[in-house]
Amino acid sequence: MMVTLGILTNGGDGPGTNQAVASLTKSSLEGSVADSVVGIRDGWAGIYNENVMLLDALTVREYANSSGTFLGTSRLNPFNVKGEDKSGQLVVKMRDLGIDVLAVIGGDGSLKAAYELYKTRGIPLVGIPQTIDNDVLGTDYSLGFSSAVDEIQRYVNTARNTSKSMNIIHIIKTMGRNAGHLALHGGIATGVGIILIPEFAFRAEDVVDLLRKRRESGYNYDIVLVAENAKIKDRLNNESRDIELILAEEIENRTKYKVRNDSIGFIQRGAPTNSYDNEMGVKFGNAAAELIKNSQVGYMVALRKGLVSAVPLKRVTGGIRTVNLREDYDVMRLTAKSAGLGSPVY
Ligand code: F6P
Repeated sequence: MMVTLGILTNGGDGPGTNQAVASLTKSSLEGSVADSVVGIRDGWAGIYNENVMLLDALTVREYANSSGTFLGTSRLNPFNVKGEDKSGQLVVKMRDLGIDVLAVIGGDGSLKAAYELYKTRGIPLVGIPQTIDNDVLGTDYSLGFSSAVDEIQRYVNTARNTSKSMNIIHIIKTMGRNAGHLALHGGIATGVGIILIPEFAFRAEDVVDLLRKRRESGYNYDIVLVAENAKIKDRLNNESRDIELILAEEIENRTKYKVRNDSIGFIQRGAPTNSYDNEMGVKFGNAAAELIKNSQVGYMVALRKGLVSAVPLKRVTGGIRTVNLREDYDVMRLTAKSAGLGSPVY
């Protein structure tokens, strides 16, 4: 029987994705896992629109090392297309397109939808975790995170040049929708004093106290990294202004320090693919082909305790992977816990 593999990338793009698509395509064709491979354009949307492209080794090598996703992506959810469940239509369209098995590359939303399609519609599929937020449950690593942290490092260290010249308290916002990994690891890598993450609601007074103590002990400037959804304790959550603006105002109201704020923004997601994400893209792509070969559908590839592994997709439905406050965050000093013996790596 001839087998056609369809590959799609859904949700926020990220470094390492194209490398995973390339490896999966090559190993599927070379290993006779599939007779043909098609790339589905713009995530799930491409199935409804029957927008696909044939992939082969020569096509994918053109894109393998670049960031973003050359297949395009969207935030469509087959179970909620403008309020309607269109998962049944997806099955029909897949049949029309002649796609026998799917590989879904994306973050927790995309992989949750993939699991539901597998469970309720019986679509044979495998998953590859990919999100700069690194918040997919069941895996210690999702593609794109390391390159995004590199970008945070570049940004913070560039900002440092001017902050230290002008004695500035510089509030810098990172991405990371519901998890603080980007801010935490970016902060460890750059040695910033204060890191604020969504997992722990902080008090503005505490930030100011810490900044004052640091100033008194000779730190003439400071950088505060704040994740986009970090929250100030006891402050209403209906505040529409961005957290870096609110925090800058809170500090200005309480001190005479010169305060500036910045948002790193989408350059984190579009960051150049570093060697770790290239390597993990290759390994995750090859592992996904192995899952298909072994008929291990309903699984995703994952990094578990330093090994590339297979994990049931059901795992992703348990929520998201957040920063472990007890192990990894110092709630008194509002920063990473001693990043030494026993600290987790990815
Ligand atoms: O999930 C990746 C991510 O970049 C988050 O860090 C961020 O909150 C979100 O996507 C932004 O999404 P959008 O591209 O839809 O604005």
